[in-house]
Amino acid sequence: QVDDSAWRRVKLYKYKDVSIPGHVVTILDNIENFKVREDDIWVVSYPRSGTTWTQEIVYLIKSGLNFEAANSQIIDDRFPFLEFMYPGIQNVESMSSPRLIKTHLPLGLLPKEIHEKKPKIIYVCRNPKDIVVSYYYFTRMMKPITRFQGSFDDFFKLFMQDKVPYSPWWKHVLEFWQKKDEENVLFLKYEDLKKDLEGSIRRIAEFLDKPLSDLDVKKIAYHCQFENMKKNDSTNFSWGTKLGILDLTESQFMRKGEVGDWRSHFNQDTNEQINKMISFRFHNSGLHFDYDI
Ligand code: A3P
Repeated sequence: QVDDSAWRRVKLYKYKDVSIPGHVVTILDNIENFKVREDDIWVVSYPRSGTTWTQEIVYLIKSGLNFEAANSQIIDDRFPFLEFMYPGIQNVESMSSPRLIKTHLPLGLLPKEIHEKKPKIIYVCRNPKDIVVSYYYFTRMMKPITRFQGSFDDFFKLFMQDKVPYSPWWKHVLEFWQKKDEENVLFLKYEDLKKDLEGSIRRIAEFLDKPLSDLDVKKIAYHCQFENMKKNDSTNFSWGTKLGILDLTESQFMRKGEVGDWRSHFNQDTNEQINKMISFRFHNSGLHFDYDI
């Protein structure tokens, strides 16, 4: 168990050096032995990297632009989160093909069959400064579960010490960056979605072998604009309040949707600390992050 973690009620555990919430620890065997299918589509990411945004784009492409379902069925029903309590890993396993699956697990904890069946995997990454800010508000919003009451600087420390779920962040990203040239992997950046949403939608559609007309791209881009996803009760996680796991007076799942919000949260010291970590971990990798666009 990790002491002083950001998650006090659902406790955090270390498994293979990764911080994992208690409810996930209990199903690690089921995850390892999960039956993967070649025609699955996986969206994999560290939390707060743009997962939901990417899922919505993938869903619309795969469903042939089913906006009706995208506006009326919560995303967890259309594109389940593998290790979350709802709908539960057994239900994900028995879904009909082609399955769309979200997970925050790092490469090393994905089902064994991922390497054999090679389903299409979209990995989403985001610059870590905006991630920490977004994750801080998310952790406060999840107060009924996390009990987190601290400041941004308190949360920053926990992030740097890997005491937040799915950390270490840098390893999560680097492991997939090393797989970016494999045929079944698309490595996507949040900042690229922000810079060129239509181009990114086209890129995802080509990767999924589902080329789109210009009009379809525009329709998907409109549906996936931040303000529209924030209004959409199927993507804004407002149903979490009914489950008693979200406190929307703290923050919202669709919070700001910007690149560069970190500038109003970091001071010189925290900025130097994270810059040092980034250059230490990524200096030879060829991976660069955009902190402003
Ligand atoms: P912020 O807290 O910075 O606003 P994830 O889905 O991986 O948990 O990521 C959540 C982050 O993605 C949040 O960031 C959220 O607002 C942002 N996001 C979700 N949909 C978005 C969209 N359509 N456009 C821009 N940002 C979006």
